[in-house]
Amino acid sequence: MNNFKLAILISGSGSNLQALIDQFSQKDNKVIINCVISNKRNAYGLERAKKAGIRTHFVDHTQHGTREEFDQELIKILNQYNPDLIVLAGFMRILSDIFVDKYLGRIINIHPSLLPKYPGLDTHQKVIKNNDRLHGVTVHYVDKSLDGGPVCGQSMLEVETTDVEELQNQIHKLEHKLYPHIVSLIAEGKMTFDKGKVVKKT
Ligand code: GRF
Repeated sequence: MNNFKLAILISGSGSNLQALIDQFSQKDNKVIINCVISNKRNAYGLERAKKAGIRTHFVDHTQHGTREEFDQELIKILNQYNPDLIVLAGFMRILSDIFVDKYLGRIINIHPSLLPKYPGLDTHQKVIKNNDRLHGVTVHYVDKSLDGGPVCGQSMLEVETTDVEELQNQIHKLEHKLYPHIVSLIAEGKMTFDKGKVVKKT
């Protein structure tokens, strides 16, 4: 297998980024994290990346008049790396059609709910408020819908707390296992995106 190149986009703490770094950092690993891009200067994930020797970029969305201009700047950076997969790991920006069209089938996202339930923000609060018995996490390919692209995989748990922070921590633990697993499947060609659908090969 040739090297499989990842570009990871973040906005915050980067605990999912860390899980990916931990999974793919062995020398003989074929999955390489080529760059980490953040739209937040102080995102802690940038520190995690630097510590792991990964090239980092900060692109300030407030300095770009439109979503499209910001995305063009992202594309300019990504062109330097030619990634096989763009991994959104807590990247808190909606991508424009320009971006999605360019990389369709090569962008994945992790979302803290059992999609299609609870797209958008504050998923843990909604689960607690609605007394849901089950909660979980979804990895999906990104298309032009909000958190609506085809699902690569999900993990779930039974809700046994009414504390948002505790629930979030439990969900994070699921995320840190699921995301590297899905990236591995895609890198190994065991999961692909074809005509808007996820295709799994055994
Ligand atoms: C995660 O809960 C992820 O599902 C969501 O944003 C959060 C990012 O957390 N998209 P971290 O920055 O990876 O710690």
